[in-house]
Amino acid sequence: MTEITKMPNSLEEYWMPFTANRDFKANPRLITGAQGMYYTTHRGDQVLDASAGLFCVAAGHGRKEIAEAAHKALTELDYCPPFQYGHPLSFELSRRLAALTPGDLNHIFYGNSGSEAVDSALKISLAYHRAKGEGQRTRLVGRELAYHGVNFGGLTVAGLVNNKRVFGPGLPGALHLRHTRLPEHQFVRGQPETGAELAEDLQRFVELHGADTIAACIVEPIAGSVGSLVPPKGYLERLREICTQHDIVLIFDEVICGFGRTGKQFASDSFGVVPDMITMAKALTNGVVPMGAVACSENIHETITGAAPEQAIELFHGYTYSGCPVAAAAGLATRDIFEREGLVERAAEMAPKFLDALFALRDIPVVTDIRGYGLLGTLDMAPVERPGVRGYAVLQQLYDAGVMTKITGDSVLLSPPLILEDRHIDEMFTKIRGVLQGQ
Ligand SMILES: Cc1ncc(COP(=O)(O)O)c(C=O)c1O
Repeated sequence: MTEITKMPNSLEEYWMPFTANRDFKANPRLITGAQGMYYTTHRGDQVLDASAGLFCVAAGHGRKEIAEAAHKALTELDYCPPFQYGHPLSFELSRRLAALTPGDLNHIFYGNSGSEAVDSALKISLAYHRAKGEGQRTRLVGRELAYHGVNFGGLTVAGLVNNKRVFGPGLPGALHLRHTRLPEHQFVRGQPETGAELAEDLQRFVELHGADTIAACIVEPIAGSVGSLVPPKGYLERLREICTQHDIVLIFDEVICGFGRTGKQFASDSFGVVPDMITMAKALTNGVVPMGAVACSENIHETITGAAPEQAIELFHGYTYSGCPVAAAAGLATRDIFEREGLVERAAEMAPKFLDALFALRDIPVVTDIRGYGLLGTLDMAPVERPGVRGYAVLQQLYDAGVMTKITGDSVLLSPPLILEDRHIDEMFTKIRGVLQGQ
């Protein structure tokens, strides 16, 4: 058996995703263990996890309950085909999720990642309109600076140029709302007061293209990957109004925001706006087993299922591993931990301290902007040479100093596990200050 703590025999064959492969292999950052709030590196150092891995390890690392539930599922039922067969765990997880989702988003469709959740949601929107006899509604509306994963549907509606430019135009007819990052939002904590009128872009698309050509509008309530773009007050509300008026499916991509990150179960709860679908992944299983899901409204579910004849498949979509036993078991065990430890409430309690410490970094000369909401925060740094050079250097320096973060361009993204304590906030921001002051 290959030991996780042993240096690999070769670093060459593994083509790493979203990674500077050549540089990594010259100077690897290998992780060999994780417990609670910390990673262990191959050099034996402890590194504070300030990003919950990739926004996913919300309940902290090394949770025995999840490992045991996954082990039990693997030994009792390793696999069950999800097409025309089922197993109890995916039904039970769906019941639990439906109880957590806002409004009547009570029907849960599974994939294996956030990207698959997004593509599933977009396809379900198309199927919904088709089931009502409006199959001509095929346009998908996304937003500049959005990240919706890497599959072609998500890429089509996303708005980060580096992720898009190499891969062609994506699906035809897509439209993009302008982003909501306005100059006057610099160093604004929480929701900006201005910018709600940017939601009128959707109304303009209705007027320009006709609502009867538009299937869905997808937004991250807080744009995560670009760096914590918090929605202006009134913005999501206005999108909701326009979508309701014109029967456009409103999808909130909560792959990052879902499960407590904003201090409520979903960002939808934090901002008081209920979409027609929510995509989720990451903290769904504490990042331990790949799983993504879409929660759909009663109307969407009933319309699609009701349009098919009895005994016919209603939606020709799904994955070999949709709701597979080990992922469903990990999802259930994660929900148990969340409930037992009150992690959503804990996130709400810790958020003000986290944001205080984050915004206290604004005096550092290299810091050009700070944004944050809940346990999600970002600081932008002035670029050097070309975009991303400083960001990459800072990622390495923070790692050497003992903090793991996610970097996008020249922005440092923070989304710690919801179990963090005061001492972790102190350690995180002391180390970040040290590195940034040295820039
Ligand atoms: C908002 C959002 N949607 C979708 C995704 C894609 O998720 P995955 O990497 O699991 O495919 C991400 C990943 O960060 C995300 O932040």
